Amino acid sequence: MNYFTYQDNRLFAEDVAIGDLAARLGTPLYIYSARTLRRHYRVLSEAFKGTDSLICFAMKALSNLSILKLFGDLGAGFDIVSVGELMRCLRAGADPGKIVFSGVGKTDEEIEAALKAKILMINVESRPELHRVSAVAQRINLQAPVSLRVNPDLDPGTHPHISTGHRDSKFGIPLSQVDEYYAEARGLKNLELAGLSTHIGSQITETAPFAEAGEKVAKIIAGLRAQGIALKYLDLGGGLGIPYQEEPPSPAQYSAALLGPLRNIGLKIIIEPGRVLVGNAGILVTKVLYVKETDVKRFIVVDGAMNDLIRPVLYEAYHDIVPVVRREGGDRQTADVVGPVCESGDFFARERDLPAVDSGDLIAVMSAGAYGFVMASNYNSRPRAAEVLVEGTVAHVIRERDTFEDIIRNEKIVTLKGGPDA
Ligand code: LLP
Repeated sequence: MNYFTYQDNRLFAEDVAIGDLAARLGTPLYIYSARTLRRHYRVLSEAFKGTDSLICFAMKALSNLSILKLFGDLGAGFDIVSVGELMRCLRAGADPGKIVFSGVGKTDEEIEAALKAKILMINVESRPELHRVSAVAQRINLQAPVSLRVNPDLDPGTHPHISTGHRDSKFGIPLSQVDEYYAEARGLKNLELAGLSTHIGSQITETAPFAEAGEKVAKIIAGLRAQGIALKYLDLGGGLGIPYQEEPPSPAQYSAALLGPLRNIGLKIIIEPGRVLVGNAGILVTKVLYVKETDVKRFIVVDGAMNDLIRPVLYEAYHDIVPVVRREGGDRQTADVVGPVCESGDFFARERDLPAVDSGDLIAVMSAGAYGFVMASNYNSRPRAAEVLVEGTVAHVIRERDTFEDIIRNEKIVTLKGGPDA
């Protein structure tokens, strides 16, 4: 459910005509709908009603400061994976006491910054990291609330690049070592054993993997309790899929599967949703430059490219593509939708049946809110797109398009000696 709808065959973001926005701000352009973001947050919160729980938005999915502010104002916490993300949260006014810090490679500086900011907990992913957190905490004389991230060894049935809960992935600590980790952690200074965490993967479209994860962590917690280890938090990660093409479980079905085995667990439940909160709340609008016909194919060449949205080539991801102005009874054509970047992987869609388009037409790549702009780059010295947040009839530019000066900001031209042997 989202608020990108047609009114008289023109696509709107809430009450703002997308054609008008594109004319004013140029393309490619990311557009987000505040009403959709709020709705997604509300529906997910309702799915966890009655459970002592906290939603920590996995901000890696969409980290613009205004988006963080919107979720922070709704009461969300945040799941971060770097000091940069920590600083974004703090800049957006987030409550540090609702921030969890995930990731396999935290540096000393990041651990120190997180402890000084007094975040809720650090999700530790390895033995050396456990020792490092303890050492940093001792050095700065603070207590470090930690959870251990367990790898539950299951197959979430998603694309291998976004599957994290299998035993051969780099994430989490092996099930077989959980007890020894907690025993070891107990003996380390300046650590507070606050919780247990897990995250099994992303764009998961079945309930079974969540239920399996829930069952596995329930067993671990029971085992830890028997050893006298009482935790406060159970962080179940993110991963719920969205309907790019497939039909994922609803938030209510997801929470039922996840919480089923954990009903009487007695810990505060944390979830780290990313995609489900923001995916369908954003689109990428791009303009058709050329329609190119070869002997074997038709290419719709647009001004957006893989540097703006890399998901199609990176994960073979499907994103619906729709015209910004719909022509009643118009022709349809099969085409590849490609960008200007000099790579064959630069496409948004392949062999897609689409309404016929001409140069100058606008199209919208749907469900681009999650892992869209945040994964954008300046490849081919292309400016990263502007981002707009629409609320009702008002469109706020929440990030200007890069200028050429932005692109070269940190570069220097050095004078080399050169010479014949250089
Ligand atoms: N928690 C942790 C520890 C994570 O690593 C992730 C995502 C999440 C939560 C949020 O997962 P979500 O609810 O969004 O599925 N770039 C990829 C997705 C990478 C996901 C990375 N981790 C894509 O475009 O599909």
